[in-house]
Amino acid sequence: MTNSLRRPLIAGNWKMFLDLAGSVALARGVAAGAPPDGPEVVVAVPFTALTVVGEVLKGSKVKLAAQNLHWEKEGAFTGEVSAAQLKDAGCAAVVIGHSERRQFFGETDETVKKRLTAALAAGLLPIVCVGETLAEREDGRTFKVLETQLTGALTGFGPSQLATLVVAYEPVWAIGTGKTATPAQAQEAHLFIRKTCERLHGAALAAGLRILYGGSVKPDNADALMSEPDLDGALVGGASLKADSFLRIVKFSAPARA
Ligand code: 13P
Repeated sequence: MTNSLRRPLIAGNWKMFLDLAGSVALARGVAAGAPPDGPEVVVAVPFTALTVVGEVLKGSKVKLAAQNLHWEKEGAFTGEVSAAQLKDAGCAAVVIGHSERRQFFGETDETVKKRLTAALAAGLLPIVCVGETLAEREDGRTFKVLETQLTGALTGFGPSQLATLVVAYEPVWAIGTGKTATPAQAQEAHLFIRKTCERLHGAALAAGLRILYGGSVKPDNADALMSEPDLDGALVGGASLKADSFLRIVKFSAPARA
């Protein structure tokens, strides 16, 4: 659970689900139910639904996000969407380097860094995803993988440039599998991420850095996960597709941390 430096953030990643009517209905439900004094709430919706969901969210406290962006400003890049286009569509945030993009679409630490550069330049809140596969965890390489991903994405920036950065720890083996990391496993990884960011960008950035956990977060495990000191929020896939389950996660209850 976050301390006073870090406002909790609960983000839904709708991935490639829902038609427009379903997107509008879900956005309405989330906007209506998100408590005014609760955590920051973000929904990352498919490109085709950005503008209609943006209309629904106008005037609400829920922020609109995209699930990816391209790093060029504009040009002959068929099938890609720029940061400026996302801003124009009403986005405040963007997910970068999700493991599904790394696994299936050739995303690398280098392209994550390019996308992060473009997102920051446009003033989009970047949610940069990192995480190890099951094989990497079983090989004892979790920390090495996280370190490589973070170093690859985050070097070359000054700490002030990264003031809005959000990191999402999403162990690949926990995504869509129903196999959540235990709170202790998540905490261990989050602490490592914070320490690595401290080494890269200093104590002030690390202390204010919000680190989300993602991977089978559900209404029945959110409270325990959010009770860990270095978990500042969640990136929720499947359970974000229904307003009631997502809102239960938004309304997580975790003991206040000293
Ligand atoms: P699930 O919550 O469906 O496991 O997905 C997690 C995720 O990938 C969020 O980005």
